[in-house]
Amino acid sequence: MLASLTYNDSFNIVLETKNLTKIYGSGPNKVVAIDNVNIKIRKGEFVSIIGPSGSGKSTLLNILGGLARPTKGTVLIDGIDIFALNDHNLSIIRNRKIGFVFQSYNLINRTSVLRNIEIPAIIAGIDEKIRRKRIMELLDMLGISDKSNYKPNQLSGGQQQRVAIARALINEPSIILADEPTGNLDTKTGSEVFNILKMLVKKQNRTIIMVTHSPDLADATDKSIILRDGIIEKEVEHK
Ligand SMILES: Nc1ncnc2c1ncn2[C@@H]1O[C@H](COP(=O)(O)OP(=O)(O)O)[C@@H](O)[C@H]1O
Ligand SMILES: [Mg+2]
Repeated sequence: MLASLTYNDSFNIVLETKNLTKIYGSGPNKVVAIDNVNIKIRKGEFVSIIGPSGSGKSTLLNILGGLARPTKGTVLIDGIDIFALNDHNLSIIRNRKIGFVFQSYNLINRTSVLRNIEIPAIIAGIDEKIRRKRIMELLDMLGISDKSNYKPNQLSGGQQQRVAIARALINEPSIILADEPTGNLDTKTGSEVFNILKMLVKKQNRTIIMVTHSPDLADATDKSIILRDGIIEKEVEHK
């Protein structure tokens, strides 16, 4: 019984880091942004990362998502050692397995909402009919189905972040990484966006890691990882 529990536990690990370290610069300019970080994230977990400005939150998230390479250590996503891959194969893993949501949305304003969401699916080679159907379902779920032909900058911040969430979800990623997704939003809109993320975890068993400065939002996730000077100061489970 114990053996099978242990087996299932490791089977459900979506993301794992081993001795992850990131050093910027050298000599007097050397900054150890991430210092020997070990974490494990299970499928269906909603994890928040909190810590003061400059504590390494964005650096950590960018490395978890394969946007930057670590100085040392490994990141396993669905058991794949992503930094053992060359840049081309790493970009394929990013496209298929990771959804990003950023503080400032990072949408392309010269093209439509529909197109913004569609681009990762085109890169993944998903058939047009299937991707259009998925986009409509996502827009519907996020309450912005009337906005598909708008340009992102014609939408409110909360609506733009919903578009970014749809784009993050389009390829059914293993994990969604969100770097202060409510940081540009007022409290009410921010909590609406947070509730969408929470719903994705509870109703769809998605896995999310979210950086936040809000203690209230962090408390409403399953677990908080508290970073200080690139080190995990502690991990707190929330009821
Ligand atoms: N590209 C970079 N070059 C040099 N130092 C950097 C770079 N990016 C971040 N840093 C430094 O690494 C540390 C962690 O930064 P960051 O990950 O952005 O922290 P946070 O997101 O918690 O505010 C800080 O000291 C920051 O100045
Ligand atoms: Mg940051």
